[in-house]
Amino acid sequence: MPVKLSIIGTGYVGLVTGACFAEVGHQVICADNNPAKVELLQSGGIPIFEPGLEDLVRRNVAAGRLKFTESTAEAVAGSDVIFIAVPTPQQPDGSVDLSFIEAVARDIAANLTAYRIIVDKSTVPVKTAEKVTDTIRRYARGKVDFDVVSNPEFLREGFAVEDLMKPDRIVIGTSGPRPAAVMREIYEPFKAPVILTDTSSAELIKHAANSFLALKISYINAVAAICEASGANVLEVAQGMGMDDRIGRRFLNAGIGFGGSCFPKDLAAFIKISGQLGYDFRLLKEVQRINADQMERFVAKITDALWVLKDKRLGVLGLAFKQNTDDVRQSPAIALCQRLLAEGAILRVHDPKAMTKAKAILPPGPAVEYVEDAQAVPVGCDAVVLATEWPEFARLDWQQARHAMVAPLVFDGRNLLDRAQMESWGFIYKGVGR
Ligand code: UDX
Repeated sequence: MPVKLSIIGTGYVGLVTGACFAEVGHQVICADNNPAKVELLQSGGIPIFEPGLEDLVRRNVAAGRLKFTESTAEAVAGSDVIFIAVPTPQQPDGSVDLSFIEAVARDIAANLTAYRIIVDKSTVPVKTAEKVTDTIRRYARGKVDFDVVSNPEFLREGFAVEDLMKPDRIVIGTSGPRPAAVMREIYEPFKAPVILTDTSSAELIKHAANSFLALKISYINAVAAICEASGANVLEVAQGMGMDDRIGRRFLNAGIGFGGSCFPKDLAAFIKISGQLGYDFRLLKEVQRINADQMERFVAKITDALWVLKDKRLGVLGLAFKQNTDDVRQSPAIALCQRLLAEGAILRVHDPKAMTKAKAILPPGPAVEYVEDAQAVPVGCDAVVLATEWPEFARLDWQQARHAMVAPLVFDGRNLLDRAQMESWGFIYKGVGR
């Protein structure tokens, strides 16, 4: 049974969620307060790179199941369920800026004239659903009936459509049976297990899950340091660990550390809200420390091998925070470039998708040259650094690269390349944990 629903906020989460809801047959309005973004979407453009998203949006706009507006009023009037998917940026002290959520809650309240279900889709600290409820009650015009639901997302950037169309589970936090029935109806077409719980538990599932994934990464990065010191191979250690189905092989890839708009922010937020609730989450503080240390360890590898980085020409493959995305927010690859520039290095950089967005934070100049063809990056370089795990970097003609380089040094920050193969081509190969 199609549900009329709207999504406030058409970013990575909101646009993918709206398009997938339309794909399974619901009637969707996506609202955003950025006129340029709404205009781009209405003209068939997509403001972000997400595999499969462009076709999904185009198909559902053409089918009349998906439309875009700047007006929250139109979204509230035209739907029975309103998803809030606006940004919840990290503040300098680690807390979450909930002002966009609060503003949307006030906007919805001002337009409420009949029963509506309001759904927190954005990643928010525990107890936020209660604050949204209070805010809507405070700013509603007269007595209105509504329910607030917590429905966190578990989308990985670069795989967001896949993750939403085939979710491991749907987490629904409600305060009563009425919204639960409607939420089940919305998610019924996805045929995924549903966890029905209270709002606080649903909010905590998101922060606890993301922080655990980050913990898993820092754990294998710490093990990688021990592998380097003992001559072990972290890839084989991770494989051996992962064969225990209580551990699992995924998210045990050692490298230059985690980044992106989620893990760093969610970790900091979980530590902050836990402290405010009286618990000092020292374990997660250590996860952050290991992650920061991982970058320093990798830069030290490069310095040890090249002695002086000043005026050295380094090729950097990868700028996005991971493969399959154009997103450079909190990108370890960008952080690495900034560290190398601080040491006086001269960079030739390339990324299959993220160069446009990278230029805003890593401006082209005498020390940063953007190279359109990945194969040309190694030309004239004293070393090449692989910073993002784009599969195409493993398919470069590395023998040709070897002859174009001043010195045959490769630093593989994501353990993407075949070490034995690289060494057979005359490279000095430095990976992480092996
Ligand atoms: C993450 C969660 O996976 C997702 O469930 C949640 O909804 C949002 O946050 P995302 O940040 O998009 O998704 O990317 P993810 O694939 O989790 O990678 C995050 C970072 O960890 C990247 O920088 C990646 O390079 C790094 N990473 C990931 C590792 O260093 N090692 C790994 O084994 C996996």
